Amino acid sequence: MAGPLLGARLPHVLFGGDYSPEQWPEGVWEEDVRLMREAGVNIVSLGIFSWSRIQPSPDRFDFEWLDRVIELLHENDIRLDLATATASPPPWLSHRHPAMLPVLADGVRLWPGGRQHYCPSSPFYRDAAVALVTAMANRYGRHPALAMWHAGNEYGCHVPACYCDVSAAHFRRWLRERHGTLEELNRAWGTDFWSQRYSDWEEILPPRQTPTWPNPSQQLDYRRFCSDALLECYELERRVLAELSPGIPVTTNFMRFFKPLDYWKWADREDIVSDDVYQDPADPDAAMGSAMAADLMRSLGGGRPWILMEQTPSRVNWRPVNVAKAPGQMRLWSYQAVARGADGVMFFQWRQSRAGAEKFHSAMVPHGPPETSPTWREVVRLGRELREFDGVCGSRIHSAVAILHDWESWWALELPSKPTALLSHLPQLESYYRPLFEANVVPDFARPGDDLSAYSLVLAPSLYLVGDGAAAGLARYVDAGGTLVMSFFSGIVDEFEHVRLGGYPAPFRELLGLRVEDFLPLPQGETVDLVLGDRRGRGEIWSELVTPAGAETVARFSSGGLQGQPAVTRHRFGRGTAYYLATRPDGASMASILAEACRGAGVEAVASVPAGVEAVRRQGDDGSFLFLLNHADAGVEVPVGGQRVSLGPRDVAVVRETS
Ligand code: GAL
Repeated sequence: MAGPLLGARLPHVLFGGDYSPEQWPEGVWEEDVRLMREAGVNIVSLGIFSWSRIQPSPDRFDFEWLDRVIELLHENDIRLDLATATASPPPWLSHRHPAMLPVLADGVRLWPGGRQHYCPSSPFYRDAAVALVTAMANRYGRHPALAMWHAGNEYGCHVPACYCDVSAAHFRRWLRERHGTLEELNRAWGTDFWSQRYSDWEEILPPRQTPTWPNPSQQLDYRRFCSDALLECYELERRVLAELSPGIPVTTNFMRFFKPLDYWKWADREDIVSDDVYQDPADPDAAMGSAMAADLMRSLGGGRPWILMEQTPSRVNWRPVNVAKAPGQMRLWSYQAVARGADGVMFFQWRQSRAGAEKFHSAMVPHGPPETSPTWREVVRLGRELREFDGVCGSRIHSAVAILHDWESWWALELPSKPTALLSHLPQLESYYRPLFEANVVPDFARPGDDLSAYSLVLAPSLYLVGDGAAAGLARYVDAGGTLVMSFFSGIVDEFEHVRLGGYPAPFRELLGLRVEDFLPLPQGETVDLVLGDRRGRGEIWSELVTPAGAETVARFSSGGLQGQPAVTRHRFGRGTAYYLATRPDGASMASILAEACRGAGVEAVASVPAGVEAVRRQGDDGSFLFLLNHADAGVEVPVGGQRVSLGPRDVAVVRETS
């Protein structure tokens, strides 16, 4: 067990939120810290959008107000997750250097007046950000209240890609690094298709708006580049912090399954993984979605605890209709994060803004008197309860199942001009995740090229793009006794988006014991019937003609042109088993296929509990914590270890189990 996330600096579950004192007169700060103490707040994210107050003009820094806030927090024993404040450049920067403003693929420039209006490649932005971080780190880098640094904020959230000339030049430098020669680039991008062969590096552009589909290999490289360009911005900040504020961990807040950034790469450069989670209370799948995000965050950090950096206490302001969390729902979803490995529960934001675009976004402290606010009462209750959870800090989750999730494959899969536009990555992931969530099997996420030997079962939902090494690794995994479940349209292209020839799915044919003769995607809204043993089901989105070559058929198509043909197969390969799904089975069918795979692989549920109850176990040094989360609107009795635990609607119990 690793011990608390922030060590002796803060040996408790982190509890707090984004704090924007610059939006309030100083008189309010005193009330802020009084209420923070009442709620058990032990850390705040400070200064995230304070650049224009910290540096009101190019050659003037004003730290005095920030000094006073920090001293006040310190006196009250509240630690700092101190922002580098680079997320929203001040008006003077873009006024002086309009070339730092980002440009969309169609040439439209984005103007200041919101936030995050910078081109990630802009030297003006980068230099100004480094100067600010240097000043911040010089001033506060060794402050006793400083517990961690918060670099930027939600990198790429509003501007994941810029297409300006500065970005174009940066892209060309990046391409030279990646491909070496122009000849290699022409090969990698398949430029003999549609007369796209380049004769000079200067001819190369980002995939700006074109008359029809831009080159897919170019688009894929641009996705990689954009993730890397933002990562360079983060790295520039991290380097300054490492030098001027040694030993203080650095994080930047992720956004669940955020497509533009390859978080595997990013997480490698973070000391702590943190995430922002905004479930829609009106979404019946909200709890599954946040469970899935939590499992991703834990996995990105290699199993280490992570921080729920932002969630809303109740309503957000950015959906067409901003439904409030039901009583108990904020507490329940906070515990869900802790159950799935978070050692910190934080909010956006501490005090509800009076002006600006987010004034109707709920906060821990509402516009009205806190005493009468049910949200505030729930915040205070949660803060008090979490004080009893020091023992949970550092404990781990042991998972026997891994779901493969790869950003590059996601990007490539969703490029246009595929057999069907109905196939996208997240619904594929969810079709695997949902039955596991409902059965209380807690999976990790893994990269296709990872060492998977610790897992009994590996799930590969449409791994469209795969490198040679990862493909060989999957075969070795099964050969050595692992169980693999793989979906259609896997192993189709290499890392350049070039089709792997010789019959689909070329790198997996032997492992799966079959060949795919043709893709037969289903028309929108149509399904195909399936027979799985003695049950019937439906396939969605996709079907294909599979010829077994060693695999046995465990389910067949039972309608349409593929009637009688294999829909699900199983193949013994070496000491292991590989399943193949030639369609996306409906939920119940998927649940039965995965239940069989779990049984075969010896994977068990965390606990046997009534439907609607989520059970997750965190393992500490001297015993474990069984989290029971009732997502239903009605109370329920849960039998555990010979006793019965009563849970009210949207209620939580944590059972200590000693080993
Ligand atoms: C996040 C952001 C916060 C706040 C919040 C509102 O995306 O990091 O600053 O805007 O959304 O839900």
